[in-house]
Amino acid sequence: MAATWLNDAVFYEIYPQSFYDTNGDGIGDLNGIIEKLDYVKALGCNALWINPCFDSPFKDAGYDVRDYKLVAPRYGTNDDLIRLFKEAHARGMHVLLDLVPGHTSEEHEWFRMSQKAEKNEYSGRFIWTNFVFQPAKGLPFISGESERSGAYILNFFKCQPALNYGFLHPTEDWQQPIDSPDAIATREAIKDIMRFWLDRGADGFRVDMAASLVKFDDEKSTGTSAFWRNVREMLDSEYPEAAMVSEWSNPKLALRAGYDMDFYLAFRDGGYNSLMRDYLRAQHDPSADPTDNSYFRKDSTHDINPFLDEYLDWYEDTKDIGHISMLTCNHDTLRPRYNLTPDEMKLAYALIFTLPGVPYLYYGDEIGMRYLDLPTKEGGYHRTGSRTPMQWSSGKNLGFSEGAAEDLYLPVDPSDDAPTVEAQEKDPDSLYNVTKALLRLRGECADLQAKGSLEILAREAGKPFVYRRGALTLAINPAGECMEAPVEVSGEIVYAIGAVSIADGKLAMGPQSFVVIR
Ligand code: NOJ
Repeated sequence: MAATWLNDAVFYEIYPQSFYDTNGDGIGDLNGIIEKLDYVKALGCNALWINPCFDSPFKDAGYDVRDYKLVAPRYGTNDDLIRLFKEAHARGMHVLLDLVPGHTSEEHEWFRMSQKAEKNEYSGRFIWTNFVFQPAKGLPFISGESERSGAYILNFFKCQPALNYGFLHPTEDWQQPIDSPDAIATREAIKDIMRFWLDRGADGFRVDMAASLVKFDDEKSTGTSAFWRNVREMLDSEYPEAAMVSEWSNPKLALRAGYDMDFYLAFRDGGYNSLMRDYLRAQHDPSADPTDNSYFRKDSTHDINPFLDEYLDWYEDTKDIGHISMLTCNHDTLRPRYNLTPDEMKLAYALIFTLPGVPYLYYGDEIGMRYLDLPTKEGGYHRTGSRTPMQWSSGKNLGFSEGAAEDLYLPVDPSDDAPTVEAQEKDPDSLYNVTKALLRLRGECADLQAKGSLEILAREAGKPFVYRRGALTLAINPAGECMEAPVEVSGEIVYAIGAVSIADGKLAMGPQSFVVIR
């Protein structure tokens, strides 16, 4: 773990399409992000993760990169991005770009070249079988679209051919080992892209599908981990303050592979689901358990233990080597407002922002933006509903854009009570103001930051959850009734949500409450 600025970092994820449009074309832009930096800073976030903002045909919202070194014209220019880095740094903020190393767009020049029948420098940049009718040993493939006779492997959607990082144990002659010249050339090409943006002021990268590189990797991701350790060596020697966060959701592997942070994500049966959402039910999955609901719901049938069992196992194993990153949600998941009320969300954020590690807030979650039921846009499918324009004010297009409503990237929330920043700033009890207060507290108390210790004091079902961070004792009661903490607590209340009192070592917690005690 190298970057020293992460200990007090709180990230704000920006989906650039939908944040703030300054030229009236209906789509967000980099100048819009620059204009809102003061807003993000005032909220209490001091770092950004921006989803891919590079040239792309946008069949997967930019995760299909056509040119890694060119800002997509719809967002602005490379100079605008460089200005964004400078403006962020002037405010003491940091910016992570989104690096997509597993695949390119099928329109990327490397892929076009690799489709040619004649052998060239890029013939081995992607994974191809030897012959158009030769399938790819269980990997998804496409054939019949290229001049070259062969099938190429996909990494995600059809538009995303897999870059070639080799195979851990090649068994076919078209599978190259991880130390083959082609696999190494791909690795060096990715490092070249990283250097390009780091030299221009980027502070690091969120890495897409970080575990997906080497094929038929073993359980320990031996090949892919070796790749990332090689990248880490480059960063340590050339850019020691650069930070990397992985979309891996396996911190035991990711942090040992050289990542500073790994996201704690919503996989089907993971602890995150029981903590935050009705993930299966929301996707209309018939196998959903009717009791599958978030711990933070007033009527929840869950206790905190399924989450803690997974989280603590990961935390204890990795706390000395890197950070687990909790998120409010991201551009791929349902917004927390989907199944939580704003009062329930306050408690969810209270936990997310007071656990160790480096937290991430998805734009709009600070005001409880809704998940909207919308047709797919740019390969979003059910994810589209979490990608709608930021709701700034009661003005035209809720302050997102001066453009015509029909030109917007996605429609704004049409409901009469669509939450906005403008309205919530004025309401001291709003989710926005609670989020801000929680982040201020975290910023002021070193004990609450990434590296501070964590000790669990009480985790019994049906009782408040009580934990300790350094000199602070914290407790959460998400239930709709009063409860007494099952452990003795004393000290001064420094922050509370809901009604909380301490007398003679007894902590009484009102319905839906949270407290920080020093
Ligand atoms: C994960 C990204 O978060 C998602 O939006 C994208 O569709 C896939 N990776 C493919 O790049």
